[in-house]
Amino acid sequence: MTDSSTSEPEMSAAARPRKKLFIKTYGCQMNVYDSDRMRDVLTPLGYEPADRPDDADLVILNTCHIREKAAEKVYSELGRLKPMKEEKAAAGSSMTVAVAGCVAQAEGAEIQRRAPVVDLVVGPQTYHKLPELIASVHRGRGEGLDTEFEVEDKFDALAIPDRQIEGYSAFVTVQEGCDKFCTFCVVPYTRGAEWSRPVDQIVAEVRALAAKGIREVTLLGQNVNAYHGAAPGGREAEGSWGLGQLVRHLALIGGIERIRFTTSHPRDMDDDLIAAFADEPKLMPYFHLPVQSGSDRILRAMNRKHSAAEYLDVIARMREARPDIAISGDMIVGFPGETEADFEATMDLVRQVDYAACFSFKYSRRPGTPAASLGGQVDEAVASQRLLQLQALLNEQQEAFNRSTIGRTLPVLFERKGRRDGQIGGRSPYLQAVHCDGPAELIGQIVEVEIVAASRNALAGRLSGGKRSAA
Ligand code: SAH
Ligand code: SF4
Ligand code: F3S
Repeated sequence: MTDSSTSEPEMSAAARPRKKLFIKTYGCQMNVYDSDRMRDVLTPLGYEPADRPDDADLVILNTCHIREKAAEKVYSELGRLKPMKEEKAAAGSSMTVAVAGCVAQAEGAEIQRRAPVVDLVVGPQTYHKLPELIASVHRGRGEGLDTEFEVEDKFDALAIPDRQIEGYSAFVTVQEGCDKFCTFCVVPYTRGAEWSRPVDQIVAEVRALAAKGIREVTLLGQNVNAYHGAAPGGREAEGSWGLGQLVRHLALIGGIERIRFTTSHPRDMDDDLIAAFADEPKLMPYFHLPVQSGSDRILRAMNRKHSAAEYLDVIARMREARPDIAISGDMIVGFPGETEADFEATMDLVRQVDYAACFSFKYSRRPGTPAASLGGQVDEAVASQRLLQLQALLNEQQEAFNRSTIGRTLPVLFERKGRRDGQIGGRSPYLQAVHCDGPAELIGQIVEVEIVAASRNALAGRLSGGKRSAA
C-alpha cells in the first residue's frame, strides 16, 4: 500500500508552505468523487483550494472522454492555461498543470505532445500517487505520467475520509469499470475492467460520512448493479455481496436516511435488488436505468445484450415492487445505421416508459470503439432533428411528472438557503429541486413538504408541519 500523505512525517501540515490548488471537473459523478479524493491526498501537502486557476500553484483538469465535445473541452481549457502559466513564470513563480481522468487514460503521453503546457498526466486509478508525481515534476525529473490500472491500491490509499464535508449528501464510489463493451462507448477502455470495493471499506467510509452529518449517500459505479464486493470480514471471508445486500446493510448505519445508486445496466438487475426497493424504505424510489435505443436492431448493433422488451420487463418488475418509483434513463440518437423506423421505436419505448427524467445524446463517434468503423453513419442534420424531437417528448414527460406531484406531500432533504431571503431549498425523493419558505434551522433535515407548484426543473412547496427526521 502506498500512503503518500505520510511520506514526510516529520513536517506537520501547518508547517508546510501554503500552496493553492484548482481542480476543474468534467464528466460523470465518479469524476466528482475522484476530484474530492485528489483534494484529500493533496491537503496534507499544504494545498488549499483556489477560486480561480490563475491563483493556483497546481491546476488539475479531471477530464471526460465520453463524447468528442467533452474530450475537446480539455484542449481549449489547456489553451487558456498556457498564458497564465507563462505569466506566472515571468513573475518568478510557477504553475503545475495536470491532466487527470478519462482523457488522461485514453490519450496518455499524447496529451503532453499536443499540449506542452501539461506537466503531468495521471489516470483514474493512480490518484493516490499524485504527491509522488508532483514531487518528481518539481524535481525536474519529468516522470509525469502514470496511467496504470491498479484500482485496489487506489481505494486502499484513499478510503477513509478525514476531510471537510460540505452539505448533507455525498457520493461513494463502490464499483469501477465496465466489462460490457457497448460498441459506442469508451468507458471500458478508460476505466478498465469491473471491480467492486469490499463491503467493509464502504461501510467505514459511509460511517465516517454519517458522523460528519451526511444524511444521503449515492453509491456510484459505471455498472453499479453489477456490484459484487467481498463480504464483511475481509477478503478471505466466504463469497461476495450483491448491491441489494449492500444497500440494506448501509441502511442500518445511524444518521443515513436516504440511499441511491447509479448507474445500472438492465442485464444486471437481480431479484434481490428489485426486492430492496420494496422492503428498504431508505432506498429512494427513483431509479436511473439507461436503455440507449428502443430498436432491437440498434440494441444488437450497440452490443447492449438486451432487447427493448427485456428492458420494459425490468421496468414493469420495478413498478410492481415499488408502485411510486420514478424512472430516468439515457438515450442515444443517430447511432450508425439508425433508420427512421428505429428512431420511431425509440420514441415508442419512451412513451411506454414515461420517464420522470432522461438524458439524451447525439451519437458521438469515438476513435477506437467498434461503432466508429461501422458503415451507415447518420447524417448530422438528421441526428440533430431526431434529438430535438426526442427532447421535446422527454421535456413534456418531465414536466408532467413534476406536475403530478402537486398536491402530494413529499419528504424533502433541505440542503441550502434559497435564492430569496427566508427561502430554503432541497431535494425530493425523486431528486427534484424543491424550494419553500422556511427557517434555515431546517437545513440538514428531512421535512414533509406539500407541493403547491411545479415547472420543468423545480417544485415549490409549503411546510406541512410534520418533521420526519430530527437529524
Ligand atoms: N454505464 C452507463 C452509462 C455510461 S456513459 C450505461 O450503461 O448506460 C453515460 C451515457 O453517455 C450513456 O448512457 C450513453 O447514453 C452516453 N454515451 C456514451 N457513449 C456515447 C457516445 N459515443 N455518443 C453519445 N452518447 C454516448
Ligand atoms: Fe459504456 Fe455500455 Fe459500459 Fe455503460 S455498460 S459504461 S454504456 S460500455
Ligand atoms: Fe466521462 Fe470517464 Fe465518466 S469518460 S462519463 S468521466 S467514466
